[in-house]
Amino acid sequence: MRGWDIFEGQPYLAFPSLLLPHSSKGRYMSSDSLKGKVAIVTGGGTLFGAAVAKTLINDGAKVMIVEINTESGSAAAKACGATFFHGDVTDDSSISKLVESVISSWGRVDILVNLACSYDDSGADSTRAQWTNTLNVNIASAAILAAAVRPYMAKQGGGSIINLTSISSSVAQTGRWIYPVSKAALVQLTRNMAMDYAGDKIRVNSVSPGWTWSAIMDMLSKGDRKKTDRVAAPFHLTGRVGDPEEVANVISFLASDKASVVTGADWAADGGYSAMGPEQAVPAIPLLEA
Ligand SMILES: NC(=O)c1ccc[n+]([C@@H]2O[C@H](COP(=O)([O-])OP(=O)(O)OC[C@H]3O[C@@H](n4cnc5c(N)ncnc54)[C@H](O)[C@@H]3O)[C@@H](O)[C@H]2O)c1
Repeated sequence: MRGWDIFEGQPYLAFPSLLLPHSSKGRYMSSDSLKGKVAIVTGGGTLFGAAVAKTLINDGAKVMIVEINTESGSAAAKACGATFFHGDVTDDSSISKLVESVISSWGRVDILVNLACSYDDSGADSTRAQWTNTLNVNIASAAILAAAVRPYMAKQGGGSIINLTSISSSVAQTGRWIYPVSKAALVQLTRNMAMDYAGDKIRVNSVSPGWTWSAIMDMLSKGDRKKTDRVAAPFHLTGRVGDPEEVANVISFLASDKASVVTGADWAADGGYSAMGPEQAVPAIPLLEA
């Protein structure tokens, strides 16, 4: 089995113990930068999404987590003080009900974080069903959700949409075709959205994490953070994987009025992964002399 095959079908969703927010080393830095704002976080049921929800709450927002997995979604919402909505981002009626629920609860929506994803990808052997389903979750749903919140944001005088992309959007990774393509498309979709929503004062940005301590890393390494950092060290300038809260801080910034001049951008939150070239952080020229 190849390393990434484990992503297929997201088997770790069967391990509820992995779904609770990871206690990180004090990386939650509360502020009131999102005070009075209302946010939707899709796919908030696992480590990463729950950390994003918690960070937005710590910064003053009210958050609705949308999650297809009832058990993980309700547990994550309870743990971080969010409201849980059981929904499927590929289902248009579910999206309508979600937006109705947010508006009837809080009367507004200021922030949309498109984080739900599918990793289902068999590389060169991918089936048409895998292509269709993964692109549907990762790209089409982000566009349809954005369209659903747009009229409310426009009426309020603006909003902020953040799409979770990835370092996978710009490099080739063995055995993976669909997921990286979906994330590359989402980087482009971010620009398109930013262009067409600018008139409504809706800013749209993407955040591209590097390897981040998440449910899948927790499961693959059997909870061994040190080992995960060791494996990631050669291709992250920081010498470790990121914490989800560190990525969440970037998302929170982009969601806030502090980022008022930022739109249509892809923000690297990747520990320097994308800055590093094929020579990695190893002096290669001296090897010629050795
Ligand atoms: N984990 C990493 O290292 C990493 C690196 C780069 C980018 N990312 C991105 O960060 C985000 C979170 O990644 P993760 O590893 O935590 O993923 P994850 O699979 O743990 O979480 C995704 C969540 O989305 C939910 N979901 C899937 N389909 C859904 C649907 N149709 N409707 C509603 N919810 C649905 C899943 O149930 C799951 O809880 C993703 O967008 C991913 O592409 C992650």
